[in-house]
Amino acid sequence: MKLLVLGGTRFLSREVAAQAVARGWDVTCACRGTSGPLPDGVTHLPWDRADEPPTAVTEGGWDAVVDVARLPSHVRSAVAATSGAHWVFVSTVSVYADNTSPAMEPLVEPVTDDVDLAADPEAYGGMKVACEQVVRDHASSSVIARPGLIVGPGDPTGRFAHWPQRLARGGEVLAPGRPDDVVQVIDVRDLAAWLLDLSEARTTGVFDAVGQPMALGELLALAAAGVGNASPDLTWVDADFLEARGVVPWAGEDSLPLWLPRPEYGGMLAHDPGPAVAAGLRLRSVEETAPGCLDSPVTALTAEREAEVLAAWHGR
Ligand SMILES: NC(=O)c1ccc[n+]([C@@H]2O[C@H](COP(=O)([O-])OP(=O)(O)OC[C@H]3O[C@@H](n4cnc5c(N)ncnc54)[C@H](OP(=O)(O)O)[C@@H]3O)[C@@H](O)[C@H]2O)c1
Repeated sequence: MKLLVLGGTRFLSREVAAQAVARGWDVTCACRGTSGPLPDGVTHLPWDRADEPPTAVTEGGWDAVVDVARLPSHVRSAVAATSGAHWVFVSTVSVYADNTSPAMEPLVEPVTDDVDLAADPEAYGGMKVACEQVVRDHASSSVIARPGLIVGPGDPTGRFAHWPQRLARGGEVLAPGRPDDVVQVIDVRDLAAWLLDLSEARTTGVFDAVGQPMALGELLALAAAGVGNASPDLTWVDADFLEARGVVPWAGEDSLPLWLPRPEYGGMLAHDPGPAVAAGLRLRSVEETAPGCLDSPVTALTAEREAEVLAAWHGR
């Protein structure tokens, strides 16, 4: 297999490239090379996608292309430059307009012009919709994978890793919302392996690329077991109380990852992995994922803030 990975210097696209090398494929990563190191064994094809595609891209004779881009112009030029290749495009569940539901429709309006996501993060889902349309309309054949939260070794986002690291530390752990709130995560290694299977089989279609949906309480118990904490001491604190004390859902400083406002986001981490599993996706358990998250960076509620909030909860 002659594979072109558009990326390769960060988390998912790097894992895709590394696993493709391990399969003995001929792997080229086209990127600037500024986001991190490329895996051993790949060929680096320097390309800033703001520029015209180099002839090494247009004349590559690729069997498949895996792309993780966010900007529609980047996808337009790459699809036009790689005719004949099977396209595997990594999109997101953020393409869905209604986060209360796990249904695969409706989509947000496409955003066809490039938008600076640092200035307008809301444009992310709409640009991915536009990217998907370019791929579906213009690639020779294609598959679209829409991941939910991707987790595991090398995760630069600082979100999920809070839980394995916090649970490994032990003691009383602040757990947000309700234990039966439904969540799901997909291990980057499982997703990468499946993207390569899709590349090789030239599978077509549109799939949610997600892990098994489960109760947050179950996920935390599995993550705890995976890092050697057999009986985690969880104190569930309700959403209103957390919000009133400045704890933030999902991501960032002072956040509790995996916690989402409900019912507004009740469907965002409840998508059906069934069709992807039927198309070959194999999912490891969260217990197996958790130990690989112990070295990742974390941006979330600090231990001091957690203790403060727990004390206020017990004293209410
Ligand atoms: N993390 C999650 O939980 C999550 C959830 C849903 C969907 N997703 C999707 O999953 C994918 C994650 O991809 P990822 O982990 O590989 O991280 P990423 O941050 O999307 O990786 C970006 C890659 O694109 C390259 N790139 C960026 N700008 C470029 C430019 N101007 N020219 C050439 N290359 C450029 C980067 O290489 P250089 O900077 O070295 O050029 C890097 O290798 C994305 O599609 C994301 O939307 C993520």
